[in-house]
Amino acid sequence: MLSLSDLDVDNRRVFVRVDFNVPLDADGTVRDDTRIRAALPTLRTLRERGARLVVASHLGRPKGEFDPSLAMEPVGARLAELLECEVRVPSDEVVGDGVRKLVADSTNKQVVLLQNLRFHPGETKNDPDFAAALAELADAYVNDAFGASHRAHASVVGVPAAVADHAPGLLLERELKSLRRLTDDPQRPFAAIVGGAKVSDKLGVLVALVERFGAGDALLIGGAMANTFLAAAGADMGGSLQEKDRYADCKTVLEKAAARDVQVVLPTDVLVATSLDAAQAQHIRLGAGSLGEDDMALDIGPDSVQRFAQVLGRAKTIFWNGPMGLFENEAFAQGTLGIANAVAQSAAFSVVGGGDSVAALHQSGLAEAIDHVSTGGGASLELIEGKVLPGVAALAPVATIDGEQA
Ligand code: 3PG
Repeated sequence: MLSLSDLDVDNRRVFVRVDFNVPLDADGTVRDDTRIRAALPTLRTLRERGARLVVASHLGRPKGEFDPSLAMEPVGARLAELLECEVRVPSDEVVGDGVRKLVADSTNKQVVLLQNLRFHPGETKNDPDFAAALAELADAYVNDAFGASHRAHASVVGVPAAVADHAPGLLLERELKSLRRLTDDPQRPFAAIVGGAKVSDKLGVLVALVERFGAGDALLIGGAMANTFLAAAGADMGGSLQEKDRYADCKTVLEKAAARDVQVVLPTDVLVATSLDAAQAQHIRLGAGSLGEDDMALDIGPDSVQRFAQVLGRAKTIFWNGPMGLFENEAFAQGTLGIANAVAQSAAFSVVGGGDSVAALHQSGLAEAIDHVSTGGGASLELIEGKVLPGVAALAPVATIDGEQA
């Protein structure tokens, strides 16, 4: 794979795929610009080297048609502030004559930010014509969209297939380096904390982790997915969110872990409420108290936080993805914040990925204490699962007919 410094970019059009899929406020402004800031080193380096930047991202999931609430203008405005230059966003099309002209007329003093790539139906289908139309805007291609590199979409795999001068951006390289420290001979004990709503969303990574783990390593499970694990082990979880059709999968994970002497740590206490708005949450010790028919477990309790923290305190490598409860509701945020604190305090090499876990770190001002805060949720899980990300595979050098690299 070439690196960014190998690319000839001076006065050339460099297409940079970024992941600016950022949360927006109700008034349409960018609520959290972490992902935009994360791409700045690549964008700044390229600008310093004289590149004419054509930056492109998706925003949300607009299903192949224009949706004004997901247009890129607010993202462009934030990017312009951060880069301190003019950022031009085509208003009504992703590709076409107007965009070609805008790119042709732009200099290396400006930046073109294409309209939301998913406004075009060809993006998610990796349509060759759409990829060719994007590639026409580029003399060189850089992928700095780690968070979207698990998607085999036109801008992620189609464009680098058509533009021979391609390389990873600095963010993508940093993400891969940090995440590979988790998969390639990590320091042990290794503790992984996995949370979130569904076992089905994270089964692949749970199985991959226990299969790679050995004696002394630990899998800590929280969030609503812990309800499914607890119910599969016989607990009555009342009206809690759970996936009854996933009990067998939970048992498989538990059996694989037991066979390898891997510790699986489930919550021993939870906060329950009968409605999502309930201010008076009740604390229940599982096994001691029981959940009523309408009770929903919405966060892990303080005993569980303490037990999880003890395991994390012994770990030399930590990976965390997913909240421990209904974190967006203050009444049920303590479990997630407690884990954020424990990960931040640990001396282990720590990597955190996924929107809510990263938000918890930022909310508690702890992000600085983490070795690597990933900008990718799904992408980081797929890497840990051992999958090759399509966007990374697409950056391999293009082979020519006589076997030499282009
Ligand atoms: C993300 O937010 O994880 C990435 O931007 C990918 O978005 P997607 O899940 O809509 O493909």
